Amino acid sequence: MASKTLFTSALLLLGLISCASAHNITKILNETDGFNTFNNLLSQTKIADEINRRQTITVLAVADSAASAFAGLDAETLKKALSVHVILDYYDNAKITNLAAKKSTLLTTLFQSSGVATDHMGFLNFTKRVADGKKLFGSAEPGAPLSSEFMEVVTFRPYNISVLQVSAAIIPPGLGGHPQEVPISPPPVGAPDAPSPDAESPADDAEAPADAPASDSPAPAPVADGPSPAAEPAADSPAKGKSTSDEADKSGAVKVAASVFGALFFSLFVN
Ligand SMILES: *[C@@H]1O[C@H](CO)[C@@H](O)[C@H](O)[C@H]1NC(C)=O
Ligand SMILES: *[C@@H]1O[C@H](CO)[C@@H](O)[C@H](O)[C@H]1NC(C)=O
Ligand SMILES: *[C@@H]1O[C@H](CO)[C@@H](O)[C@H](O)[C@H]1NC(C)=O
Ligand SMILES: *[C@@H]1O[C@H](CO)[C@@H](O)[C@H](O)[C@H]1NC(C)=O
Repeated sequence: MASKTLFTSALLLLGLISCASAHNITKILNETDGFNTFNNLLSQTKIADEINRRQTITVLAVADSAASAFAGLDAETLKKALSVHVILDYYDNAKITNLAAKKSTLLTTLFQSSGVATDHMGFLNFTKRVADGKKLFGSAEPGAPLSSEFMEVVTFRPYNISVLQVSAAIIPPGLGGHPQEVPISPPPVGAPDAPSPDAESPADDAEAPADAPASDSPAPAPVADGPSPAAEPAADSPAKGKSTSDEADKSGAVKVAASVFGALFFSLFVN
């Protein structure tokens, strides 16, 4: 009797917890107009399942009007290209603003975690362009331009999943893409630095030299075993950072127990 009650409670708890931690990218994108193609492609390639399995993730969503860039890629390449649009960290408006305060940042994508990415194709370069303040993404593959502009946050669930709309698909040249640099907008008339092109020439035209002094990029270079402290957890361990959850992965019940214990412990500790 008692064990039955315990069992029922455990099931209930399991249900509650899995409800609370589940996100469904298919549903999220379905609730927003204009992302049908991208959404279908995520389902077709099963990247959607990968996204749903992870707990700290940002999806760069491409609107239907720009999704034709994915057409014509073979199944394998399509999967890789889509996984470039999944960042293994959570970025909402506030975090994007923080990122934009830095000169540029390398972000780790789901493609990197596949282990088959070469030439930095598994990373994205996020840069707020000095010339016009646009927040841009591009493949970190050498020579790839900043080809996609951050438009807006579509949805966010702190600190688990965020969906950002970007202006163009990001298909690295190494995957057969032909990315073009996002055009520079003319500065608004009367803007403070508009009339002094001489003063800001080094920032605008010479992007490479600007980085020369000891590469002040905040993220370390993406060498083989892990690009940044924010990098993803091991591929098959969605729980980030907590060793208790890692070890408990084998059994859902143990995992739940660990989470509950962790939460209790945490609240005790905090209080
Ligand atoms: C968010 O992610 C954390 C781990 O990073 C997880 O413990 C939690 O259950 C998730 N919450 C939601 C609402 O998805
Ligand atoms: C996600 O949502 C879609 C559409 O609402 C649904 O068909 C699918 O079964 C859901 N997937 C999961 C894992 O719940
Ligand atoms: C969401 O999915 C339903 C059923 O598949 C469909 O009828 C509806 O048009 C979709 N909504 C959007 C915004 O795509
Ligand atoms: C990102 O791209 C910009 C412009 O191409 C470049 O100057 C910068 O060095 C790149 N940043 C990283 C971290 O690779």
